[in-house]
Amino acid sequence: PHSVDFLRALPKCEHHLHIEGSLSPALLFRLAAHNAITLPSHAVDVAYASIEALEARYRSFTSLDDFLDYYNRASAVLITRADFEALAYEYMKKAHADGIVHAEISFDLQTHTARGVSIDDVVHGLNDGLNKGRTDFGISFRLIMCILRHLPVSSSVGHMHLAKPFFDAGLIFGLGMCSTEKSQPPTKFRPVFDLAREFGIGHLTAHAGEEGPADYVRQALEELGVHRIDHGVRSLEEDEVVDMLVKRETLLTVCPLSNVCLQVKPRLEDVPLRELLERGVRFSLNSDDPAYFGGYLLENYVQVQRAFDFAPSDWRTIVANGIEGSWMPDEQKEKLI
Ligand code: HPA
Ligand code: ZN
Repeated sequence: PHSVDFLRALPKCEHHLHIEGSLSPALLFRLAAHNAITLPSHAVDVAYASIEALEARYRSFTSLDDFLDYYNRASAVLITRADFEALAYEYMKKAHADGIVHAEISFDLQTHTARGVSIDDVVHGLNDGLNKGRTDFGISFRLIMCILRHLPVSSSVGHMHLAKPFFDAGLIFGLGMCSTEKSQPPTKFRPVFDLAREFGIGHLTAHAGEEGPADYVRQALEELGVHRIDHGVRSLEEDEVVDMLVKRETLLTVCPLSNVCLQVKPRLEDVPLRELLERGVRFSLNSDDPAYFGGYLLENYVQVQRAFDFAPSDWRTIVANGIEGSWMPDEQKEKLI
C-alpha cells in the first residue's frame, strides 16, 4: 500500500552505519589505484579480479566473520585525511537521497592505526566530510568510535586514551563495540566501558545478539552499562532480556538486509520486527554496511515494507522510536516528532 515516496518522506534517523561499510568495490578499486595499494592477487583471492567479481563475492557471505575478512581488508585503501573526508561525504549524499534527517556514524580506529594512519587524519577527515554534508543537505550527525572485539582488550584501552582528546573536543560523541561476536562475551571488555565512564563519555552502545546469544545483550546492558544495543535480534530468545529492554526503553538498532546477507536470518521475513513491535521493544532500521549488504537505508525500508506490509501506525511507531532513541538534543526531537 505504501509507495517508495511515502518511505522516503519519513523523517528517518540512521543509528547503525559503519562508515567503512560504505566503501563500495568501485571506490575500493579507485582508491587502490590512486594510493598505489596492491589488492590481493588472483592467487590469494579471485574475488579481487574485478569490481564485478568483488560485488558478486559480497552477495555470498556465509557469516559475520566471512564478511569481516573483506571489510577489514578493504580499509587498506584508506590512507589520507582526504580519503576519509570523501568517504564520509559520499555517505551524506546518499543519506540525503534516501531522506535521512539524522545520522549516527560509526568508525573503526584500530584498523586504521594498524596501518600507520593517524587518529588526526581519521577523525578530522570524517568530520570534514560530515560537516560538509550537514552544510549542503541539512543532515545532523554524531560520530561513534567502535572498539574491535577481535583485538586484545589492551588495544582498545590504548585507543581510548589516544581518542580521549577527540571525545573531550566533541569530535567523537559516543562509544560502540563491534567485530566478531562468537566467543567474545561483552564482560571481557568491561575495562574499556569503565574507562569510558571515567572519561565522562555519556553515550555508550555495543553490538550484541547478532550472532551471539541473548545473554550477551544482558551482559552489555548490565555489565557494560550501554544505553543502546546494535542488532540485538537474538534478544527474543530470552524473556528476561526482552523485559529488560522494555523496562529500560532501550533502542535496538536492527539491520534487516545485513541479517539476511550474513545469514543471521534466512529471509527478511524472519527478522523479528513484528514480534518486537508487539512486545513493545523499541527499534530503528539501519543499513549497517550498505556497500556490502545490497542497499542503503531507503532500500532497507522498501524491502521491509515488501516483507511485512506494515500499517501507517506501525511506521509512525518505528520512526518516532528512532527519533526518540537518537542522540540528538531534545529540541531537535520535538521538531521532528
Ligand atoms: N557486526 C559486527 N561487526 C561489524 C558489523 C556487524 O554487523 N559491521 C561492521 N562491523
Ligand atoms: Zn554493525
